[in-house]
Amino acid sequence: METRKKIYNVISEFLDNPQIVKEVSSTPKRFEIVDMKELAPGIKRVVIRAPLIASKAKAGQFVILRVDEYGERFPLTIFDWNKSEGLITLIFQEVGVSTRKLGMLKAGDYVMDIVGPLGNPTEIKNYGTVAVIGGGVGTALTYTWVRALKAHGNYVVTILGARTESLLLLEDELRRLSDEVHISTDDGSKGFKGFTSELLKKLLEEGRRFDLVMAVGPVPMMRAVAEVTRPYGIKTIVSLNPIMVDGTGMCGACRVKVGGEIKFACVDGPEFDAHQIDFNQLMNRLRFYRDEEMKALKTKFND
Ligand code: FAD
Ligand code: FES
Ligand code: MG
Repeated sequence: METRKKIYNVISEFLDNPQIVKEVSSTPKRFEIVDMKELAPGIKRVVIRAPLIASKAKAGQFVILRVDEYGERFPLTIFDWNKSEGLITLIFQEVGVSTRKLGMLKAGDYVMDIVGPLGNPTEIKNYGTVAVIGGGVGTALTYTWVRALKAHGNYVVTILGARTESLLLLEDELRRLSDEVHISTDDGSKGFKGFTSELLKKLLEEGRRFDLVMAVGPVPMMRAVAEVTRPYGIKTIVSLNPIMVDGTGMCGACRVKVGGEIKFACVDGPEFDAHQIDFNQLMNRLRFYRDEEMKALKTKFND
């Protein structure tokens, strides 16, 4: 019932705001790319002109975009936004057809449509000491979390992880914002050798205490973080990344089981209590279209 109410509210908001409807149903070539930059191999940052989205965006929210008229709809976190210039910034990893198509565009090109901001903003308040953990491209969201947490007076310990040093993202930016930054790489090329969850475990075993842990990254990483904090009883929030299509609670693609109940990550989340999530179901659902995705990649890019 609660979910239905939220869906109704989201749709009403869209319909009540003529400017948003105009943005969504606008003619092709509406959203101009202002900048495209490679941050690390296969990871890019794109700045797009989207004034209405920039004027409403909050930490934790995302957009759903479609690169061209043949493209599928796919979600990306709003990494940064500039209300006065009407710009939003997204960071994405080129993993398949849609993200690669986006990555081939350059300043002056356009994407066909963008809907947002979607999802609930992160609940930010003064928690005390917060560990913020980002793995891979999930670091984009970490940055917005840290910025908002610092604005509310929290002591923020950031744990930043990647497979290898060259894939570490936003280290300088996070060092500027956070009270402490700890690095982990799977291959030991920089910082702690191992996973972010193992580094968190080490800090806890050394006696560090956190009032809240927030994590975003690959599903196995978020599950591992949840298992590390569970015995300590530390509240742990993760941002889920199930497959999304409409982003308004209508299609059911993003359903996840949380505390035994079915939730739609796009309207009920994307952030949830990590100790309540059925991660196995989430991993299975993310693999649902793997064969089709591989086929599409072969057809379009000959990979
Ligand atoms: P494909 O080959 O089609 O898919 C590769 C894998 O990506 C799939 O196996 C599946 O796990 C996932 N995926 C595919 N389609 C979707 C979809 N429609 N929705 C969600 N996942 C999908 N990635 C980033 O790089 N940066 C971000 O900031 C970011 N933010 C996200 C925020 C949310 C709320 C969600 C749900 C996902 C986010 N993602 C982000 C993941 C991103 O949406 C997928 O990497 C992208 O859709 C892959 O599309 P593709 O066609 O390039 O690859
Ligand atoms: Fe369709 Fe969430 S993406 S219900
Ligand atoms: Mg795809």
